[in-house]
Amino acid sequence: MRNHPARLIRKKRDGGELAGDEIRDLVAGVVDGTLGDAQLGAFLMAVCCNGMTPAETAELTLAMRDSGRVLRHPNVPRAKIDKHSTGGVGDKVSLLLAPLVAAAGVAVPMISGRGLGHTGGTIDKLAAIPGYRTDLSCDEFQQALEQCGYAMARANAELAPADGRMYATRDVTGTVESIPLITASILSKKLAEGIDGLVMDVKTGRAAFMADESDAVVLMESIVGVGRAAGIQVSALLTDMDHPLGRGLGNALEVAEVLRALEGDCPTDLREVTLALGAEMLLLAGVATDLDAARATLIGLWQDGVVRQVFQHNLQVQGGDPRIVDDPGLLGRAPHVVAVEAQRAGYVTDVDPLALGHAIVDLGGGRRQPQDAVDPHVGIVLAKTLGDAAHVGDALAFVHARTAAAAAGAAAAVAAAMPVGDERLRRNQLLKRRLA
Ligand code: URA
Repeated sequence: MRNHPARLIRKKRDGGELAGDEIRDLVAGVVDGTLGDAQLGAFLMAVCCNGMTPAETAELTLAMRDSGRVLRHPNVPRAKIDKHSTGGVGDKVSLLLAPLVAAAGVAVPMISGRGLGHTGGTIDKLAAIPGYRTDLSCDEFQQALEQCGYAMARANAELAPADGRMYATRDVTGTVESIPLITASILSKKLAEGIDGLVMDVKTGRAAFMADESDAVVLMESIVGVGRAAGIQVSALLTDMDHPLGRGLGNALEVAEVLRALEGDCPTDLREVTLALGAEMLLLAGVATDLDAARATLIGLWQDGVVRQVFQHNLQVQGGDPRIVDDPGLLGRAPHVVAVEAQRAGYVTDVDPLALGHAIVDLGGGRRQPQDAVDPHVGIVLAKTLGDAAHVGDALAFVHARTAAAAAGAAAAVAAAMPVGDERLRRNQLLKRRLA
């Protein structure tokens, strides 16, 4: 006999601590539908208002993980380590990081999400690669991991299905912003991948999911603690999202930046965040003794072209056109490309990622609603970044748009997001904190 949902909801409402069997009963009700929408909404609101202890959060995470299939990879002897980012604008790190870390002998099973709102999603970026399949079955995902050392797929209904219903309900009940619910949502899906370790990239700053740094630190600590309680190794970096990462913003434009990065032409911020996360992954996998050695290994593999080969192999395995590596033009291009020019001389005093992220959504490159289609080719390429000198008429950025009217609208938004003034500002520290 299951515990009665109304009693459990009252217990949480009144500040009580739920036991493991009580949490498992609630999650079982989420999956088989015996917990009604009103009850689920009430439970989520009670958690949102009263929080959960670390023990409750761990129980919730494990119950959500076990609501579906939990992958095992018996044919992959390497350590299996994934990375998860809370997301931002221009964050194409996963596309570079997975082949980089796989090249170093670590298996990377990576299940990712789509973008919603101003933050992009890895699945949408991969969709900009002609032919690339992210709708892999669990068996195909395992095979891709065995064949090329990493696999990238979207979540499917077999993995942590409780999260799908809980997330959709949180979205419409004002209960997204709860640290225990975010922790359980992220970790249940990651644990279902069959990983030995996880490196979290928790972003903070204007365009981050957790804009406030102290909230981001609480999330970081929660994920590390609960992940360890669930039996995997976890470390976390707190990284800056007060400015965009890299220069290409928008799905195909970000893939193009990754292709250039594979050839060695990589913006410093993107390179630093990728190497820092990659070094943490090698450390968790036990293939490097310290962060400096891990970093040196990754730089060597990147310079020698091994990472490029692994990336190309993954394209072949997952159906993507492998010719894009030699000919990025095959990604295609939006018909209208418009320069946004400096109207005065000085320095770029801001590159507002939130405003740029919203401009990309307005161009059709992101979603307002979950069912919205995404235009892979539109976006913004930054020609200058924070603190760069600009003369009158210099291009600050290029807008890639489907129509001339959309280009004009986005160009005005970009001009406002990238003011030029007298002060020469420097970017915040990229890596703000490490928890390992
Ligand atoms: N990402 C997730 O997967 N879940 C959350 O709750 C928040 C961000």
